[in-house]
Amino acid sequence: MLALRTSAVLAAAALAIAAAPVHAQDEKKEIEKYQKMLAEGSPVELFELEGADLWKKKQGPKNESLEKCDLGMGPGVLKGAYAHLPRYFADTGRVMDLESRLVHCMVTLQGRDYKEATKRVFGNADKPSELEYLAAYVVGKSRGVKIAVSTRNPKAKAAYELGRQLFHYRAGPWDFSCASCHGVAGKRIRMQSLPLLDKPSGARRTYATWPAYRVSNSQMKTFQWRLNDCYRQMRFPEPTFGSDATVALTMFLAVTANGEPYDGPGTKR
Ligand code: HEC
Repeated sequence: MLALRTSAVLAAAALAIAAAPVHAQDEKKEIEKYQKMLAEGSPVELFELEGADLWKKKQGPKNESLEKCDLGMGPGVLKGAYAHLPRYFADTGRVMDLESRLVHCMVTLQGRDYKEATKRVFGNADKPSELEYLAAYVVGKSRGVKIAVSTRNPKAKAAYELGRQLFHYRAGPWDFSCASCHGVAGKRIRMQSLPLLDKPSGARRTYATWPAYRVSNSQMKTFQWRLNDCYRQMRFPEPTFGSDATVALTMFLAVTANGEPYDGPGTKR
């Protein structure tokens, strides 16, 4: 209800801005003003609170909470954890992003079945998914922490290299790569300017504001959703949740964003 009301107010504000005659040099200011307005009316805190409850909720065959989940900084340490993800985890021998690691904890700590835990990773406005709430809670604990994703481990380095290649890999009916839309400065589709994501100039701020609440559909969206939706726009098949490919792409973008203070969950149009 709150979410709906907020988005209606913001949509009205967006229309007002869109309708105003805006000169090129004023445009950036207007967009900044709009983004500030979005952030002020955003319900991200409600998602963080709900996520905190889910983090502590005992669930699964083992009737355990996620409070001992190790996101890379030690069991239960949340502060700054997201700013260092994705990372190599010795216990699984894999590079994992936030979402795949959370599911790993559901399976190992709570004794849940992988299929059950990943059955509904993307929610909707009426019923957000468990992962969307949890992601909002965990990333909020890195607010203000500089993104510092390491490629020192050889598998982490390999994931970064794979991600860089995937970013530039052209295929599908339109022969698009991510770079077709996000590799050229100043590109836009309709009203949305497309950030240059293979350079720190565009990647830093963009990556540091995901996951994000999307006002246009009143939903908290995870980073995996963002990648999947762009693959959909490219007419590629939908990537498998937590696959090495999506982790690698996330790794590439995160490393490119290194140094930026994390500032999410964000609020987007
Ligand atoms: C056909 C053009 C197109 C291609 C190709 C494309 N994207 Fe996107 N991408 C978009 C559009 C449009 C948006 C903004 C959508 C919006 O504002 O809701 C976007 C948004 C994003 C964002 C969030 C930007 C922000 O400001 O928050 C990320 C991250 C992203 N894309 C990553 C990728 C990756 C990685 C790939 C390759 C797998 C890719 N995109 C391929 C069109 C594209």
